[in-house]
Amino acid sequence: MSVAGVLGTGSALPEKVISNADLEKLVDTSDQWITERTGIRERRQAAPHETTSTLSTLASRRALERAGIKATDLDLIICSTISPDMPLPSTASLIQRELGAHGCCAFDLAAACSGFLFGMTVAEQFIRTGASKYVLVIGAELLSRYLDYKDRATCVIFGDGVAAAVFGPVDPPSGILGHELHTEGQYAEHLFIPAGGTALPASCQTVEKGAHFIKMRGNELFKVAVRSLEDVSRQVMKKAGVKPDDIDLFIPHQANQRITEAIRERLGLRSEKVYSNICRIGNTSSASIPICLDECVQSGRLKRGNLVLMSAFGAGVTWGAVLMRW
Ligand code: UT7
Repeated sequence: MSVAGVLGTGSALPEKVISNADLEKLVDTSDQWITERTGIRERRQAAPHETTSTLSTLASRRALERAGIKATDLDLIICSTISPDMPLPSTASLIQRELGAHGCCAFDLAAACSGFLFGMTVAEQFIRTGASKYVLVIGAELLSRYLDYKDRATCVIFGDGVAAAVFGPVDPPSGILGHELHTEGQYAEHLFIPAGGTALPASCQTVEKGAHFIKMRGNELFKVAVRSLEDVSRQVMKKAGVKPDDIDLFIPHQANQRITEAIRERLGLRSEKVYSNICRIGNTSSASIPICLDECVQSGRLKRGNLVLMSAFGAGVTWGAVLMRW
């Protein structure tokens, strides 16, 4: 059995910055409200010519180069996204074509903000059993395309961004030490896009009603998020025989700085162990954790031997945690 770890990371952010001041011109909100209630000061927005697959291809090339792996060496590509280029085919297929990763298997995975951790876990299983050697996992979202810029409850939160990581066999003690994933469908309507699927196919009426935009019950989600993120973080640490004090770096999904603070306090982690970029990037759903991971690797914040805890929560609702020795 092989131990799976990260061989290289890469990210790609659109250039256009949307500040809180920009949003003040669109909806009844204020820089003060957004900053105090979420910690977000700005987020990125993709240009019309950019798509989930084009930014993913860019991020993937960077990750492959840093991993020293050719696209043709990949056995599997998993693209975690809830904002695909189109309903059919999968965005992973488009990325595979652009990378020239002929012959490998590629599919999309929909677990919203927890998606990158779900993807990491799938990659770990394939590598550990020897079914695959090199797996590319991408967290990619262009949620601006699904945002109603008249709905202040959602348009201030979400941003666009993509990041990727190449996974492969590593030598212990490095590698993924544990993972824990959950889904609870009873909260499905806490965060959803009502139309565009088989339940409510696209029509003039669905467009008129704005039913293709993201709808969120932020307040209800907030409570579920804090409780489940604490529980799942403790579960993965307990299974691996690790205590919060042993963690060198905690990368939570960047949903809301107040959620991050609540988890940090509940787990008893010191502030300097917790990574946050929400003020610059906003909530990029499944791209949030890999963007943080890539920033930590490129800045040297993450050092060989560090114990990293990653926890996420999102629509579904889904939640999960992965523990990894860098
Ligand atoms: O990515 C994973 C899934 N998403 C989450 O985990 C999101 C979790 N939830 C949250 O982050 C927070 O609930 C929000 C940031 C979305 C909202 O913050 P909140 O403190 O829970 O606000 P609220 O929904 O309880 O609303 C409080 C007030 C309301 O006004 P009234 O009824 O008290 O007069 C809202 O209408 O704030 C108002 N409000 C705003 N005001 C200015 C809501 N959004 C805004 C806004 N600007 N953008």
